[in-house]
Amino acid sequence: MSGNNSEDASGEPTGKLAELLKLLKMNGNDVTKLTQSQQKEMKDYKFWKTQPVPKLDESVSEEGPIDRKKTPEEIPNEPFPLLAEFEWCTLDVTDQQQLEDIFVLLNENYVEDRDASFRFKYTREFFNWSLKPPGWKKDWHVGVRVRGTGKLVAFISAIPVNLNLRNKLVKSVEINFLCVHKQLRGKRLAPVLIKEITRRVNKYDIWFALYTSGTILPSPVTVCRYTHRPLNWDKLLEVGFVHLPPGATKPQMVANYALPKKTTTRGLRPMAPKDVDEVHALFVKYQSRFDLVQDFDKEEFRHWFLGGPEQLNASEDTKVIRSYVVENEDGKITDFFSFYSLPFTILENPVHKELGIGYLFYYASDADFGFNDRFDKEATAALKTRLCQMVNDACILAHNAKMDVFNALTSQDNALFLEKLKFGPGDGFLNFYLFNYKSFPITGGIRDDKSYDVERRSNLGVVML
Ligand SMILES: CC(C)(COP(=O)(O)OP(=O)(O)OC[C@H]1O[C@@H](n2cnc3c(N)ncnc32)[C@H](O)[C@@H]1OP(=O)(O)O)[C@@H](O)C(=O)NCCC(=O)NCCS
Repeated sequence: MSGNNSEDASGEPTGKLAELLKLLKMNGNDVTKLTQSQQKEMKDYKFWKTQPVPKLDESVSEEGPIDRKKTPEEIPNEPFPLLAEFEWCTLDVTDQQQLEDIFVLLNENYVEDRDASFRFKYTREFFNWSLKPPGWKKDWHVGVRVRGTGKLVAFISAIPVNLNLRNKLVKSVEINFLCVHKQLRGKRLAPVLIKEITRRVNKYDIWFALYTSGTILPSPVTVCRYTHRPLNWDKLLEVGFVHLPPGATKPQMVANYALPKKTTTRGLRPMAPKDVDEVHALFVKYQSRFDLVQDFDKEEFRHWFLGGPEQLNASEDTKVIRSYVVENEDGKITDFFSFYSLPFTILENPVHKELGIGYLFYYASDADFGFNDRFDKEATAALKTRLCQMVNDACILAHNAKMDVFNALTSQDNALFLEKLKFGPGDGFLNFYLFNYKSFPITGGIRDDKSYDVERRSNLGVVML
């Protein structure tokens, strides 16, 4: 059952709509100030209103699937029709040339910042890690090529994930890297890609998906804020990533963000293959506190935290994922953290061509395991102390690995360390969506006024690339 709770007696929006409007305002898009035609456009999700997703003004009263299960046999065998000048292709990412095609499409057309001065710089190593986890399907690397020239102009991908939503297993995929060539934007190709990947996933008897977007679509399960911890403030200033605050001097700012070369946590070392069983157990226990998590089996855990086989011997420059553990004097692993590298290309700068970026990935700690309630005052203090030390070390390691900034979302227990460790709030927000599954809202680590929600933290335990 879903109820429309879009207005109260005073005419003010309430419920989920009110929450969304608040979030839009937080994003700098005060919806109440939009012109009438813009408001109409916003409501008019021509594609998404045909899909099994909750409406923007819908309040969820029961969690679960939206379209009840069909069978793969009921799903068409043929792909959705495309205009005559295009054709579908399945990309084989084990083939260098095809990997190169994705690489060129995404590097030239994927997300840019508002001023188009930075763009993600995807690498082969990154794709090998992110597109080929255990159980990956070639069929789920979907492209559109220009018939005749063979040029790749659009891409979408799915990888298998077992989600755990408040202790219910939701067999799903994660959708990522949706991209349409700049010259083909606005032509409704994205909905066709989404429908085609849905068809291909349904054929494997999977009916749900997790995806993220910076834009508001019907309807986010949660929204998190991006945060940035400058590691190389000088360079960030030179490339326009940060500005000198009024009244501050450059040396003051550099000193403020300076980090030592050496990490401080005793027993900290890179995670090794022999640690997988123990760290996996610690991680599963830690993750059980969150409402939405991915259930990693050991093979998946090994892939996501040690990388594929080529990552084990990768040089420092091409390492995508880095994982560390803290081993105490008794040889027990008490903590673990990981971060990945995804640099930006700097588009128009005479000196700097690349910005090294580290992203906090997953972590776990036994610091509050002795308490029944993670929000207990002492539990909070214990975890906060441990996380502050650990993530500060992660920043030191990222800096030593030539990263210029360290990013984190407000998800997980991050609100406990963000401010103390000088992670500044970014302009960007990341909305999380479930396809064909209704969920009660999940806390995303930010308050109504955009600040870090230290009291409630976040109940989101998935990190998407
Ligand atoms: C995102 C992108 C593929 C959309 O393509 P487009 O040409 O602008 O949009 P199209 O005309 O094909 O389709 C528009 C529909 O797609 C939806 N859409 C746009 N971006 C979307 C996204 N990230 N996820 C899901 N749906 C999206 C729109 O809401 C619209 O549907 P609606 O009528 O229900 O509102 C394209 O802008 C792009 O490649 N951007 C750079 C990469 C990027 O941002 N990828 C998404 C990362 S989350």
